[in-house]
Amino acid sequence: MTTAGDDRRGTRVVVGVGGGIAAYKTCGLIRLLTESGCHVDVVPTAAALKFVGAATFEALSGNPVSTDVFSDVPSVRHVALGQKADLVVVAPATADLLARAAAGRADDQLTSTLLTARCPVLLAPAMHTEMWEHPATRRNVDTLRVDGVHVMPPARGRLTGADSGAGRLPEPADIARLALLLLDGGDLPWDLAGRRVVVTSGGTREEIDPVRFLGNRSSGKQGHAIAALAAARGADVTLITSADLPTPPAVTEIRIESAGELREHTLRCASEADVVIKAAAVADFRPDHVSESKLKKGSRAEPNEIRLVRNPDILADLVAARDAGQLAPTCLLVGFAAETGDASGSVLEHGRAKLSRKGCDLLVVNEVGRGTTFGRDDNGGWILDSDGGEILVERGSKDVMAARILDAVVARSR
Ligand code: CTP
Repeated sequence: MTTAGDDRRGTRVVVGVGGGIAAYKTCGLIRLLTESGCHVDVVPTAAALKFVGAATFEALSGNPVSTDVFSDVPSVRHVALGQKADLVVVAPATADLLARAAAGRADDQLTSTLLTARCPVLLAPAMHTEMWEHPATRRNVDTLRVDGVHVMPPARGRLTGADSGAGRLPEPADIARLALLLLDGGDLPWDLAGRRVVVTSGGTREEIDPVRFLGNRSSGKQGHAIAALAAARGADVTLITSADLPTPPAVTEIRIESAGELREHTLRCASEADVVIKAAAVADFRPDHVSESKLKKGSRAEPNEIRLVRNPDILADLVAARDAGQLAPTCLLVGFAAETGDASGSVLEHGRAKLSRKGCDLLVVNEVGRGTTFGRDDNGGWILDSDGGEILVERGSKDVMAARILDAVVARSR
């Protein structure tokens, strides 16, 4: 997630709040948006104020709140907020609010704002699973998406009572990620609906003994951003990762440590997938021997060298599996190239060579090095297509890079 601070001064965001218990989490979202420099107007429904008081929303946003259309009549607030907004984000969007928005009602400040807004609108639903799955709610969500509204798939997990399932409000950071992407000019088309996307993310850990491992600097942020945005665009996403980052909403996560585990899960999941995106930084080598017990200083087992053996190339194995008919022939394979550039070639030249060597369909080429990409929130590079296309992605947030990669995936899958 980007935090552009002062860069967003003058950006106006309306945060609508529906009447659900998850309204307490919206306080965190307001905080993230104001900290990123946005001017935030909070518009709660009357029911939302039964869960969180107006004083909390006013203190966090620094602006007055009102719920009905007769508040602040001289400034025509019920239309002015929507007209002036750069983004409207509603969290939680309850089943009732989705129904009223889909029907085009304008019976309170929030629904009037939704009708007058000409900027992107992002709704983060939260409700019990039965309500989310009800045909009436499905119809309302479909209507809103056809109208161009971005409706996030809710997270799965613990709901208000003892029940758990789909319908949990995504975490504030997950909503803010999409809000800031839309403010940065990114789009969230519902164009991956029904597609099964596998994403690998983070570095691998190759065990030396029960305490130590060989690892690398990959944080997993880029892969997680791709998984989050693919799910927000409707894909059924499986994320295979070692990264210590929160699982994005509506994403199934498989935890792995070593390249061997990553390979096993990736090949299995790929056999059912439409797209595999290999953002993980896979260790090329592993110790040829793993000690059962901790290697102690001064003991007879004290090593004076670690011998390494080559790990299998998982991307090459995926290409071979597709050629052998073990994956769908249309399964799109996306690789990453972490390059530093050297005397034998530039970052882009190494990327082009790697694309033809690896045999995948798209290759995302990043320039890496200390402080360049690993662990940071920004990224830049090229998306190379085996058809010969080259897209330059200027340095920007990892979410913008993720959006461009998914655009290339959709374009290539047509
Ligand atoms: N990759 C893989 N299995 C490996 C090594 C890499 O699947 N054992 C994948 C990565 O997930 C990435 C792509 O291959 O999508 C390129 O990774 P990179 O480390 O840049 O390239 P290498 O193949 O390791 O080549 P080199 O280190 O020689 O540049």
